[in-house]
Amino acid sequence: MTPSVAGIGTRQIEACLAAETARFIDRNPRSRQLGQEAKAHFPDGVPMHWMTDWGTPFPLFVARASGARLTDVDGNDYRDFCLGDTGSMFGHSPAPIMEVLAKQGGHGLTYMLPTEDVPAIGRLLAARFGLPQWQVAATATDANRFALRWARAITGRPRILVFNGCYHGTVDETFVRLRDGKVIHRPGLLGQVADLTQTAAVVEFNDLPALEAALAQGDVACVITEPALTNIGMVLPADGFLDGVQAACKRTGTLLLIDETHTISTGPGGWTRKHDLSPDFFVVGKAIAGGVPCAVWGFTDEVAAAMKVARAKAGPGHSGMGTTLSANALALRALRANLEQVMTDAAYDHMLAMSARLAGGIRAVIAGNSLPWHVSAVGARAEFVCGPVPPRNGAEAATSMHGDLEAAIHLYLMNRGFLIAPFHNMTLTCPATTAEDVDALVACIAAACGALLAGA
Ligand SMILES: Cc1ncc(COP(=O)(O)O)c(C=O)c1O
Repeated sequence: MTPSVAGIGTRQIEACLAAETARFIDRNPRSRQLGQEAKAHFPDGVPMHWMTDWGTPFPLFVARASGARLTDVDGNDYRDFCLGDTGSMFGHSPAPIMEVLAKQGGHGLTYMLPTEDVPAIGRLLAARFGLPQWQVAATATDANRFALRWARAITGRPRILVFNGCYHGTVDETFVRLRDGKVIHRPGLLGQVADLTQTAAVVEFNDLPALEAALAQGDVACVITEPALTNIGMVLPADGFLDGVQAACKRTGTLLLIDETHTISTGPGGWTRKHDLSPDFFVVGKAIAGGVPCAVWGFTDEVAAAMKVARAKAGPGHSGMGTTLSANALALRALRANLEQVMTDAAYDHMLAMSARLAGGIRAVIAGNSLPWHVSAVGARAEFVCGPVPPRNGAEAATSMHGDLEAAIHLYLMNRGFLIAPFHNMTLTCPATTAEDVDALVACIAAACGALLAGA
């Protein structure tokens, strides 16, 4: 039998990868040249090393983007289903955000003082997400880090519990994994001298008994989770799992942080509002200010009261939280405009309809080719996974990650004018995505499968 991966012969994957790599090099001479030039002062020619994670022989340099379209420096146009890996989930440069940029540009960008937008933003966040108290950070990583620090300060407990396969930004205590039942540092982690296994607990998603056993020890300050794992393919919660998580947290005095940075794709109030969750902390970043760097984190009145007590106990000094540019005037303006004018019910109706169309189209391609793959979706976020059944947890999800196969598909799509997220096979639809964009992507995925299966 010829060796294969997820229903595709490894020879076909190698051949496709080689052909598409050559095609990419041909199509992108200017990107190649800029990459070479940039190498003089940037390792690998990029200002942030993740930009080399696209599986391309050199990074694609971008000229501009608008709505659901992006143009590279060689003049190639793309229908963009990556949308900055969620940062531009509401489209590139939505009109209300462009207006903010133009107006605020002449009024100063950062003062380290609040602006008149603050009370209105508080009302908007409370009404939308249901939590009464809020803070603003520059990134979701920061928001998670600050909330976790507060959770420890409030409870006096040392541990943070995460689910295997999680990602919450570059937050130290979440860089752990479960291997053979033991907590280990996440493979590849650099420069970590603290032993994270002493301060983190890890259990599998959808394993309520394991969670309950871990929380029963009484030393976990906070459980941090996405409502569905979206950073290791996609793992949806089993019926009743999140209710069970909430109940176990309540019973053991453990705080619960729901990170909706990706699952804000669910709807205007995120998964939390749609499914009536009641977390102690709530975080959403990336797209919340329409692409201007910003994140918000909310908490209950009880948490706010406990913060006061913890603060009084700690006495004067530096809290270890906050950054200078957090909640700057530009971010606040953009946040308000995005909440008021961009993240509307109508925008979500369209995004969800486009994503459902895309998921349905890809399912038909999978069925038509009898591939052992499936599609999972959380609202405007849909993912095709090169494994036969939806995984129940991070360990199962990891078995459906196939680097070369994904790279071959991504390159095939890029070379024909489509971007999907470079990490696994995630797609996002934005308010500017059209049915024609969706159908064109489905047709291109069908062609990619045809190419990969040819001669198999
Ligand atoms: C669920 C989740 N939380 C937090 C983050 C961190 O976001 P940022 O890199 O903008 O800090 C990410 C990034 O992918 C994420 O997926």
